[in-house]
Amino acid sequence: MQKDPLPFTSPLLNTGATRPTSVSIPSATLAAATPRATANNNLNNSPLGNGVYAPPQSQSLPPTQPTLRTPTESFSVSAFRRRSLCSIDQPGVVMTRLPQELEDTQHEFGSKLVVIMVGLPARGKSYLVKKLQRYLTWLQYDTKVFNVGNRRRIASKGDNRNGTSHSHAFFDPKNTAAKEIRDELALESLEELIAWLKQGGRVGIHDATNSSRERRKLLLNRLEQEPNCRVLFIESICTDPVVLAHNLTMKLSSPDYKDMDERQAREDFRKRLENYERAYQTLGEEDEEDGIQYCKLINVGKKVIAYNIQGYLAGQCIFYLMNFNLSPRCIWLTRHGESVDNIVGKIGGDAPLSARGKRYGDCLSRFIQHQKKENKKSRRVEAEAGMAISPLRERTVAVWTSMLTRTKETVEGFDPKEYDIKHIRFLNEIYAGICEGLSYTEIEMEYPEEFEARRVNKLFYRYPGMGGESYLDVIQRLNPLIIELERMTSDLLIVTHRVVLRILLGYLMDIDRSKMPEMDVHLHTLYCVEPKPHGTVVRKYRWDEELDWFVEESVDK
Ligand code: F6P
Repeated sequence: MQKDPLPFTSPLLNTGATRPTSVSIPSATLAAATPRATANNNLNNSPLGNGVYAPPQSQSLPPTQPTLRTPTESFSVSAFRRRSLCSIDQPGVVMTRLPQELEDTQHEFGSKLVVIMVGLPARGKSYLVKKLQRYLTWLQYDTKVFNVGNRRRIASKGDNRNGTSHSHAFFDPKNTAAKEIRDELALESLEELIAWLKQGGRVGIHDATNSSRERRKLLLNRLEQEPNCRVLFIESICTDPVVLAHNLTMKLSSPDYKDMDERQAREDFRKRLENYERAYQTLGEEDEEDGIQYCKLINVGKKVIAYNIQGYLAGQCIFYLMNFNLSPRCIWLTRHGESVDNIVGKIGGDAPLSARGKRYGDCLSRFIQHQKKENKKSRRVEAEAGMAISPLRERTVAVWTSMLTRTKETVEGFDPKEYDIKHIRFLNEIYAGICEGLSYTEIEMEYPEEFEARRVNKLFYRYPGMGGESYLDVIQRLNPLIIELERMTSDLLIVTHRVVLRILLGYLMDIDRSKMPEMDVHLHTLYCVEPKPHGTVVRKYRWDEELDWFVEESVDK
């Protein structure tokens, strides 16, 4: 039998403080011996975000011959990473088996990415960065933005004397004293970012203009000392006059200008921009000589130039950024109407709607029809006031449901001649494996250990049995839908289930992952999410059964 190339620690031999002995266990034996342990315990034990394989805690593992290591077999994190043929690394669903020597360095293993933003002021960098942070965090990569402008404002304390004030003169490339301070601030932010990655962060985003080659070189020189970090430059270029005018208006309400007279602010910003333009060097051939990977996003992803993209994570970032748009739209989300299983508290299954659930579905179709007309009116008003960021056009509403009976029945009142209706398997409820069709009380009685394991770590917990899923599994299958949802320009109604709704709202409302699996998402509640350039507006409606209509309620995050 062929020997497994990567020995790991056997829990049978790892008792108390004694150094674990290295044993080699063929993966086939392992899979056969511990199917359940492999599915659940590893994910539960795995520190969030490093995708590292933790040995199963099963007593049924046959101990095999201890392997003697020769000095040439010892690995370092970088050597192990270099040896990796593929960089796919998805928290909770991809596990990398580590050699025993590297077990203490598990936190260093997951690939680290430093994203360095490039672009003139008011090119939507901070907007892109916020979206990217939200998306990557939702995919369970710890992501943090390090904004150099904020550091500058804190350093200046609103005081002109130390030269860090935000007047346009401070950004003059010929102002050497100020340039030194700006470079210093950029490096300090980078240091903070690196320190954070070393403490376990995965993606650090350096949010600044970084608009000259000299500045980029400065950052790259520092990053050369960090072999475990990959670097991705993202440049935002904007030539669309409507978007530029909109960005300028946003800039005038930013911390630098919000307390200034509007005319004075416009004038100062115009001069600041001129200063930046004088020193601006777009990413190009000279940067390519440094062997970097980069992506240029032109007009919010309308045109994308990508160079030398290596690695799964960088690819994910770019795919995401090239797919979104700024069109105003409403994303409506709800669970299906009450099902007959809901009445008796059974989870999973494919039950039909109760009579009450059917009434909810009827009301939902009438309400969305009504909202469609209302939205049309308010968009016309926005367009007439010159506030629209994209041209006014006839809006269709897409309707997505899962493939389960209860969601399909909920949208029976929607006419396919008027709505683009799709039933999508990705939107199905979490599959509860051997617990399908049971109530929570029954699960607690029949499988107390499973019940407790889920209580302790609901996000990572995977239901046992064929096809059993965890929240993290559901996040992965929803990823293509998030991309599609960002790409679409039409209004959308999603009719789905409790877990899927929590996860989708988790993304749209940027809800902390510790809160997301416990979020209250009641039956017969409808959410309306409107992505706006300055953030997301969320409204919540409850179906009032007596009124047979929806009543707006306050939203708590
Ligand atoms: O009870 C309805 C339901 O959608 C079940 O099918 C599903 O297993 C459950 O909710 C998910 O909620 P939680 O993750 O809180 O157990």
